Amino acid sequence: MFTADLAFNIPPTCPAIRTMPQSPLRYTTPPAWTELVLADFDSFLLDHAAAEKKASGMAIAMLSHYPDRVELVAAMADLAVEELTHYREVVKWIHRRGLITAADRKDPYVLALRDCMRRGREVYLLDRLLTASIIEARGAERFALVANALQAGPLQRFYQSIARSEERHYTLFLQLAQHYLAREQIQQRWEELLDIEAAIAADLPLRAALH
Ligand SMILES: [Fe+2]
Ligand SMILES: [Fe+2]
Repeated sequence: MFTADLAFNIPPTCPAIRTMPQSPLRYTTPPAWTELVLADFDSFLLDHAAAEKKASGMAIAMLSHYPDRVELVAAMADLAVEELTHYREVVKWIHRRGLITAADRKDPYVLALRDCMRRGREVYLLDRLLTASIIEARGAERFALVANALQAGPLQRFYQSIARSEERHYTLFLQLAQHYLAREQIQQRWEELLDIEAAIAADLPLRAALH
């Protein structure tokens, strides 16, 4: 397996996250978001399922786009399976509540981040990896908020475990970036994208959805 020099304060593992103490994010999701989610948890679950399915699809798109990058293909194959497992688990919660999954809708947060990606072989790879890392960090932050707000029980444990997974994925994408790209290049773009993401997240209306 590839190695990476963890130069970005990445926690190696986080056994029991209540929040994400070393989150790189520069915008903190306000309590009003969690309140909206709890007030309409059905909508949140449906959106969450869609987000997991898209995450799996994104991992497959990555390995299809870079078939010659051995570590990336291996990591994305694992990730595609894991995200689809998350999807399957969320779908179980959906069906248990008598709901049915809905057609996908565009995710304005992801679209806005995608608009910031640069063209060019190396910079596009860098932007994809760093953007994916930040999206995972945002997912980890918000799933932990949901977990903390839920009553103790199976649903809370599920969201705690999802939050831990997404935190690992945040690290994974940064490690892949460090494997393929120069440190200075990563550092500069990492700073820029963190600011961009914070502005996007702060700008979007709050709703009972992951983004
Ligand atoms: Fe996931
Ligand atoms: Fe993930």
